[in-house]
Amino acid sequence: MTDPTRAVADRATAGFTTRYGGQAAGRWAAPGRVNLIGEHTDYNEGFVLPFALPLQTVVAADRQDAEQWTVWSELSDETVTFGADDVAEAGRVTGWGAYVAGVVWALREAGHPVPGARMAIASDVPLGAGLSSSAALESAVLAALLDLGGLELPAESQPRLAQRAENVYVGAPTGIMDQSASIRCQAGHALFLDCRDESVEQIPFDLDAAGLAVLVIDSRAPHRHADGEYAARRRSCEAGAAALGVAALRDVSVDHLDTALAQLDDEETRRRVRHVVTEDQRVLDTVALLRAARVRDIGPLLTASHVSMRDDFEITVPEIDTAVEAALAAGALGARMTGGGFGGCVLALIDADRADEVAAAVTAAYAERGFTAPGTLTVLPSPGATRLP
Ligand code: GLA
Repeated sequence: MTDPTRAVADRATAGFTTRYGGQAAGRWAAPGRVNLIGEHTDYNEGFVLPFALPLQTVVAADRQDAEQWTVWSELSDETVTFGADDVAEAGRVTGWGAYVAGVVWALREAGHPVPGARMAIASDVPLGAGLSSSAALESAVLAALLDLGGLELPAESQPRLAQRAENVYVGAPTGIMDQSASIRCQAGHALFLDCRDESVEQIPFDLDAAGLAVLVIDSRAPHRHADGEYAARRRSCEAGAAALGVAALRDVSVDHLDTALAQLDDEETRRRVRHVVTEDQRVLDTVALLRAARVRDIGPLLTASHVSMRDDFEITVPEIDTAVEAALAAGALGARMTGGGFGGCVLALIDADRADEVAAAVTAAYAERGFTAPGTLTVLPSPGATRLP
């Protein structure tokens, strides 16, 4: 266990003892993620390439006999309690407790006898930064409930279940990437996920060997209508696929892109389709380079992905574009927004010895424009959800 994990795990353990008395039966951790490349491709049945962060959410838990779930979180220092009635139907628990209730609901809906439980949650994954704090919470709770109940659910089926918690119980129309990353990622690798059949390949992503680092820059941009805009992008993509007569935009290849675009009369839909189709190809190209251990060479693909998100998918904001431009000007090999957009984080691929310089350049560019100072952190591809010793 790395030290940062130990600190958050200790907070969960201590929280459990303070709230409920006694010792938890176990502790389960699940990470946040960044997506190296492949944005807004998951719900188009395309390709993504996320990796897990060293930032984790930890659940310390034990069973309770009644069909009742009691959950304390350090983030709000609040305890939420819900029973069988609250998970009989989606949406009855609201706020952060909905992510926990959603997992109980989804498990029960899939026919699993979920044990009652007491849980204490601690987390290092910042909320609202586009690093999948919700998937980390769902995945850690899912791991805890599966183990506490002695329930069998293969790892490859778990992301879908956690996603249902979010899509149906919470009501956010997100794709399969975040829960897949939190559950299925491995240390030292990026997860090449085919979102159509959910097959995965662990792609070695050895930054150390290449003398490189990934700098994650939290733009601190306030989320501007992110939920509504996300749903609108999804609708545009579905409209584009319908107009082209394909099941999903995944079915349009870059070789046929011009022909496909010529069949669309709406300029906005054309831009959305062009982003998704070219982005799928950039994921495939990135995977090919990583397989050949050419890590440095993926930089231009990352930057091209950003340009496509900015100009065609129109999901970036001034803080995000500023961070990307400043990182590139300071020598980053590539930089792009990561996650759903309208705020969140930027990732920059940099020479490992230039992290401070690039971070300082971004901070200076922010100050010049009067933006709230960004957060910066270098990260390595970390393990997915696990039971802690
Ligand atoms: C959010 C969603 C994911 C994915 C990304 C964009 O993170 O939760 O499913 O669609 O946006 O790539």
